[in-house]
Amino acid sequence: MSTAAPPSDREARFAELFANRPVILAPMEDVSDAIFRRLCREHGASLCVTEFVNVEGLLRGCRHAARKVRLEADDAPTAIQIYGSDAARLAEAAAVAAEAEPAFIDLNCGCWVPKIAGKGAGAAWLREPDSMVEMAAMVVRSTSLPVTVKTRIGWGPEAEMPIVEIGKRLEAVGVRAITLHCRTAKMGHSGEADWSWARKLREAVSIPVIVNGDVKSADDAKRAIESTGCEGVMIGRRAIEHPWVFDEARALLDRGERLPAPSALERLALCREHLQANVARRGEPFGVHCTRRHLAGYLKGLPGAAAVRHALNHDETLAGCLAILDEAEARVGRGRPEPLAESA
Ligand SMILES: Cc1cc2nc3c(=O)[nH]c(=O)nc-3n(C[C@H](O)[C@H](O)[C@H](O)COP(=O)(O)O)c2cc1C
Repeated sequence: MSTAAPPSDREARFAELFANRPVILAPMEDVSDAIFRRLCREHGASLCVTEFVNVEGLLRGCRHAARKVRLEADDAPTAIQIYGSDAARLAEAAAVAAEAEPAFIDLNCGCWVPKIAGKGAGAAWLREPDSMVEMAAMVVRSTSLPVTVKTRIGWGPEAEMPIVEIGKRLEAVGVRAITLHCRTAKMGHSGEADWSWARKLREAVSIPVIVNGDVKSADDAKRAIESTGCEGVMIGRRAIEHPWVFDEARALLDRGERLPAPSALERLALCREHLQANVARRGEPFGVHCTRRHLAGYLKGLPGAAAVRHALNHDETLAGCLAILDEAEARVGRGRPEPLAESA
């Protein structure tokens, strides 16, 4: 028997997600997995989005895709993001993803990388606004879950970005929220995100708009929300190195409070927790390897961070990495100052 929530509960829960200026973990391929979502949630993320899931893989029952859409009971609220180039396949896949009972289904219309956009998926939808809107309408009809879109301000280099018009049309076909990465597809990750487009979109639609791009601190999160009027803010790259950014943003948004930088012990504890969780899930050495991209950021400011990082990068075993962290902790215990400045 299905345990799906009745529609009225689901609606209330969806509205609730955007009620208090959520600070959201961005979907990031090979980053925003179940383990990282849990860590970010522990550090204040209000809502998480899975890394994007290929609809063909999902519909073929590919193990990789199936794992990405599996949500543990405590992995909530989490949305599942899907991508593809064919509207009918996206609609079918949305119905499959909905079985995991995510908070909503998010459509990736923003990925710029050639292996995705070059095949008509991701940001390529922005080149065909009519098809993009029809595709979104088809997905909306295919599932009783709310459907949202994450996109960019345009393909580029238009002088006047199409996002405001597209946003209005997406709303008209039943899309329930839009996350706007405030760059063009052509910009990739270069140049600066221009949040003024999020404000323009916000003013043109009545569904929630989430501002994204270059939010690197609590102050950025506050400025991004206040300068655009958006319902919430999404954080990607900064979270990879500093998941504390969610608590820091929450404290500033909710209480006007600036949290101190995490202490050396907190930094070391997060390294341990992430390594242990990844090795438990993925084994050695892969679990160690895939944690490395986070460790430099987690350790930033620790006395002797460069040497600790170097040692961790050359050890493929959990036991070895934990011993390195224990040794670093013993050094901290011998009287190093904390909390540590981020820039040290
Ligand atoms: C490693 C990495 C993987 C990403 N994967 C996805 C993805 O799967 N889906 C998506 O919509 N965006 C993806 N993005 C884009 C981010 O969600 C976000 O829009 C972008 O990084 C800008 O936000 P930021 O400045 O806070 O990082 C990815 C970004 C990075 C750095």
